[in-house]
Amino acid sequence: MEQKTVIKAENVSMCFTLASEKFDNFKDYVIKMIKKQVSYDEFWALSDVSFEVKQGDSLGLIGLNGSGKSTMLKTIAGVLKPTKGTVVIDGTVAPLIELGAGFDADLTAEENVYLNGALLGYDRKQMEAAYQDIVEFSELQEFMHTPVKNFSSGMVSRLAFAIATIGTPDILICDEVLSVGDFHFQEKCEQRIQRMIDAGTTILFVSHSIQQVKKICNKIVWLDHGHVKMQGDAEAVCEQYSHS
Ligand SMILES: Nc1ncnc2c1ncn2[C@@H]1O[C@H](COP(=O)(O)OP(=O)(O)O)[C@@H](O)[C@H]1O
Ligand SMILES: [Mg+2]
Repeated sequence: MEQKTVIKAENVSMCFTLASEKFDNFKDYVIKMIKKQVSYDEFWALSDVSFEVKQGDSLGLIGLNGSGKSTMLKTIAGVLKPTKGTVVIDGTVAPLIELGAGFDADLTAEENVYLNGALLGYDRKQMEAAYQDIVEFSELQEFMHTPVKNFSSGMVSRLAFAIATIGTPDILICDEVLSVGDFHFQEKCEQRIQRMIDAGTTILFVSHSIQQVKKICNKIVWLDHGHVKMQGDAEAVCEQYSHS
């Protein structure tokens, strides 16, 4: 049976503009702007990136730091709009991009569960139903009434991962989320991701660990300075990548 396409990225380019000089103050900036002395540097973080992801595939993005992986994931999550090209998505997306970014540090873990749930589009009833599972999965039973500002980064990511994976989204985006936390928790996360793959969720996955990518992904897009260097079956691309 023909698998349906759930993500189609076509000629995606992303340009960031940065003022090329520093200004001492805002007045200085305004004066230079009026005199048209402000210049901008353009930086293309992605150039002409195209790929398709079929339902049930797990696609890994690999490449050195700064090659554009997070930028690409953000255009898929709808956080960034590409300067050129298009990204078409068919289905619901659960983005695990900056884990815990939606938390309020002064609120307790429990309050953050409801706050974060609301941000992800769940109502209070749905969150009440999921609450026990979140507490158990994150193993933070004794800390649910503690303000999140007292949490270690590992605890924050455990809680954020547990919240973000309560449903079965059509597409799950994981950007370096398995690099935090201890080994035991990483294993649990991998198992949960594997379960979601088995249930038909499409995964977009980025990790420092090429071993993890090999374990989880069947397809890979290799980015190099914002260009697609190679794409295809995980094994073939990893083989080339390990010789680069
Ligand atoms: N908001 C931004 N403004 C300017 N430059 C950015 C921005 N976001 C990312 N970049 C730059 O784009 C390049 C790609 O970044 P990123 O997508 O985070 O790479 P990766 O995730 O592969 O490490 C980097 O050089 C980074 O500095
Ligand atoms: Mg990144």
